[in-house]
Amino acid sequence: MQTAAKVSEVPNFGKKVVSVSGREILLINIKGTVYAVENECPHQGSPLGAAVVKDGHISCPRHGYRFNLADGKCAEHPEFVLATFPVQLNGDEILVDLG
Ligand code: FES
Repeated sequence: MQTAAKVSEVPNFGKKVVSVSGREILLINIKGTVYAVENECPHQGSPLGAAVVKDGHISCPRHGYRFNLADGKCAEHPEFVLATFPVQLNGDEILVDLG
């Protein structure tokens, strides 16, 4: 597990792009649950910092593919899976496991 950011840096219903071990990770806070996903759409590589998050899914701003934040799956296009990473909170610290 590696420190990615502080919880206080990712507002509720907000996002933050961080660099962890040279990878761009997008952190998303939904009511205190923090998700960590690759900041790169598996379809054609669009960054996801400007993506809309709704109902537990993130919608890529380029072509609108929707990925489940929990497992990265895209129901409409199952051949594309967004990389997701386990998250742990330790006080105000967000820890991610890049595997
Ligand atoms: S690049 Fe994300 S849906 Fe096409």
